[in-house]
Parts: sequence; structure tokens; C-alpha cells
Amino acid sequence: MNQQFDIGMVGLGVMGRNLLLNLADHGYRVIGLDTDSGKAAALKKEGGRDSVDATSDAKAFLAAQRLPRAIILLVPAGKAVDAVINELTPNLTPGDLLIDAGNSQFKDTDRRHQELAAKQLNFFGMGVSGGESGARYGPSMMPGGPKPAYERVKPMLEAIAAKVNGEPCVAYMGSGSAGHYVKMVHNGIEYGIMQLIAEIYDLLHRGLKMSNADLATLFDGWHRGELNSFLMEITAKILRKIDSKTGKHLVDVILDVARQKGTGKWTSQEAFDLQSPLLTIDAAVSMRDISAYEAERTQASKLYAINQAPFAGDRAAFLDKMRDAAFASILLTYAQGFALLRKASQTYNYGLDLGSIAKIWRGGCIIRASALESFRAAFESQPDLPNLLLNAKIAETMRTRQGGLRAAVVAAIEHGIPAAALMNALAYFDAFRTARLPTNLIQAQRDFFGAHTYERIDEKGTFHTKWEE
Ligand code: 6PG
Repeated sequence: MNQQFDIGMVGLGVMGRNLLLNLADHGYRVIGLDTDSGKAAALKKEGGRDSVDATSDAKAFLAAQRLPRAIILLVPAGKAVDAVINELTPNLTPGDLLIDAGNSQFKDTDRRHQELAAKQLNFFGMGVSGGESGARYGPSMMPGGPKPAYERVKPMLEAIAAKVNGEPCVAYMGSGSAGHYVKMVHNGIEYGIMQLIAEIYDLLHRGLKMSNADLATLFDGWHRGELNSFLMEITAKILRKIDSKTGKHLVDVILDVARQKGTGKWTSQEAFDLQSPLLTIDAAVSMRDISAYEAERTQASKLYAINQAPFAGDRAAFLDKMRDAAFASILLTYAQGFALLRKASQTYNYGLDLGSIAKIWRGGCIIRASALESFRAAFESQPDLPNLLLNAKIAETMRTRQGGLRAAVVAAIEHGIPAAALMNALAYFDAFRTARLPTNLIQAQRDFFGAHTYERIDEKGTFHTKWEE
């Protein structure tokens, strides 16, 4: 019984249980630990073989694993992670590896990494994406931490990861908190794309009066083309679902108040700290926040009702523009996310390989999409590419799709339909492609009221003007 298990899992909730069963399916001997003895018993039953065991006894859990141990933690981010670490640490052996696979704040991961390194213990922050079925049949994983420890678990992670063209959706991200950082940005992009799809749905549903069934067919068609992605695919499925209680489309009876666990907000906060603009994701976070003010919105909807002009024009041509708008705005969201990753890698010395990140996001994760293949190619051919938008092939795609994005924003304005993410995606694009922004005026204003100085285009140095003389 002792020292026979290859890997341990702490936390047998949905993600932990499924990841553990995935490991077992690939021939690994796995043992789970959960304070809830019911969960431990359920796993043993579900596992149904000697190579799957579970317990509520931490000492027995540790004694059953071979050394050096590799233990995955799948407990809620925050205090629970520290509690598990504090409970296990006194009985761990130098060289053991703890892998926090939850959505932890990357700064917590850095702290834990340092605390455990002082005890000769290895600590990994590993982003895991793909939800329940991803964990069970192939997630995308973003591990970061001490490289030698990664080599030990690499075969295991590669075995259970999603595969795209035979390539596993897992790779070593970098040192310290790199893994959790990359997962945080993944989730920020996830927020952005979800908001963009929701705005397009709103424009077509309320603006163009398209039915859920027609929208489902449209999105399904987009998913089969260049907009092929998990989020587009599930949106089509959602729009088809009928509520068994009312017989209506389920989406129509769901309350419009979004919840959030915080990873999108962290991405925006971090982007402000690193001064790496993330306009679409900022808008997505803010729109979730606005959705919470349900009572005030209802009141305001009566105060500010407008007569919506019916849509006039060629519907088929408009739908093509909307497809281009979706493509362009989603691409812009990835571009902002990858630019933040580049900045973070420089700031925190993560050593991120953006091509490899695009590669492991092609499958298994929530933001998987065909477009990631072209992002991967862009970063592989130009490892120092500062922004996806500067790649010649991406630029060619953007040039032909940007008109659609402009048309979507104009339609949103005309119909009084909120489209913060679409508008911000376009604002980012227009700012990024403007060689001379009006920031010259801001610099002049700062110098006027605060003598903050400015630089000139025709001479080096800093200058101050007595503006009213
Ligand atoms: C994933 C998801 C996953 C989770 C989000 C939801 O990659 O599998 O991102 O991590 O569903 O954390 O986040 P919110 O509750 O903040 O929407």
C-alpha cells in the first residue's frame, strides 16, 4: 500500500475528481484527498480499480505516494490553498512538488513559491482550462515554476492534455508565477470574447429582431468558418436550448446579472499596473459590473426609452459585416492579451514564449479557436513581435475586416444598443494605427497647469513654457 501511487490530488470537487480520473485513464496510479469522506468514497467507487484510491486522512495520503511526491491541489483559490499547504508541509520530504491547479492570484503564487523553496519544496502554479469535460478528457494546462521539477511531471501532463494535430496542449510557461499569470490573461481574453459575442447577439436580436433559432444557425455557420471556436460553438447550442419548465428558449428566462470570480478584473488591474492597454477586457469587466445594477437599469429604461428605428438595409450584407466585426474584435482582444503577456514577461522575467502559449491555447481551453494557429505562426516566425497587429498576415486580415467592425459600432449607436467591448476594440485599433495621437495636447495641458514639461518632435530634451506670457 505504501509509496505505490504516482500522483496525489487534494480536493475532489468537479475539477479534481475529473483530472484524477483522466490521469488514471492514462495508466497513472492516483490517490485523492478530501476532508469530505463522502467525496473520497464516491471517487473510489467511480474509479473502480486498484490504481485509483481516495482518503480523508492526510497522513495516509502522503504515505501512499512514491517519492519525490507530486501533489496537485484543486481547492478554491485563496485561503483554502494556504490551509492545505500548511497542513501538508510538515510531513513533506525535500524535493516534493506541490502543483496549485486552481485560479490563484499570481502574486499569491510567487509568495507560496518563495515560502516553499525555503523548505526545499517545489511549487508550481498551473492554470488549467476547459471546465469539467476538459479536466476529464483533455484540458489545456499552463504550468510555471522550477524547470527541473517540470521535467518530472511533463510526461504525465502531456498524456492527459488535449491534443491538436497530435501536439499536447501543455508546455512549461516559465519561472515563478508564469503559469498562473498566463491563465489569468487567458481568462481576461475569455471575458472579452464572451462580451463581444453577447453584444453581437444583442445587436442582432434586439436590433435586427432575429430569433434565437436564426441566431443559432448563424453562429453555427460562423463556427464552421473562420470564426471556429469553442465559445461560438457553445453560443449556438445555448440559443437552441428550450427550457423544460416554460417551453421557452432557456436563454430568455435567464437573469441578466453576470457573476464573476475575479480573474477578468485581475487582468485589467494588472494591465493598468504594467501600462499595457487592454480596452476590450476592461469594457467586458465593466459590463459585468453594470449588469449587477438591475433595479436601477430597469428604472432608467423607462426614463430614457428611445424609439428604435427599424433596421433598414440589406440584411445579408449586414450579417456579413457582423461576422467581420466578430472576427476583427476577437482578434483585437487576443492582440491586447498577448501584448500584456509580452510586457509581463519582461517585467517579471518569466521567459514566456508567446508562440508556445498560442499553441497550447489551440485546444482544450475555453478560448480555443482556429485563429490561434495563425497567431502561433506569427509568433514563431517573429519571436520578438511586439504586437500581433504588426504581423503582415494578421494586418492583411484586419484590413479587410475592420469595415465590419465599424459598421457594427455605427449600428449599435443608431439603435441605442450598448456595445462597449466592440467600441473599445475599435478604439484600441484606431489608437494603435494612429501615428500621431492628440496626446501632444495633453502634454501641453499638463505643462500649462503643473509645469510637468513636455518633449518636442524637432529637438531632444524636456521643455517648459510659461503659457500665459
Ligand atoms: C476555464 C475557465 C474557468 C472558470 C472561470 C470562470 O478556463 O476553464 O476560465 O477557469 O470557468 O474562472 O470565471 P468567472 O466566474 O470569473 O466568469
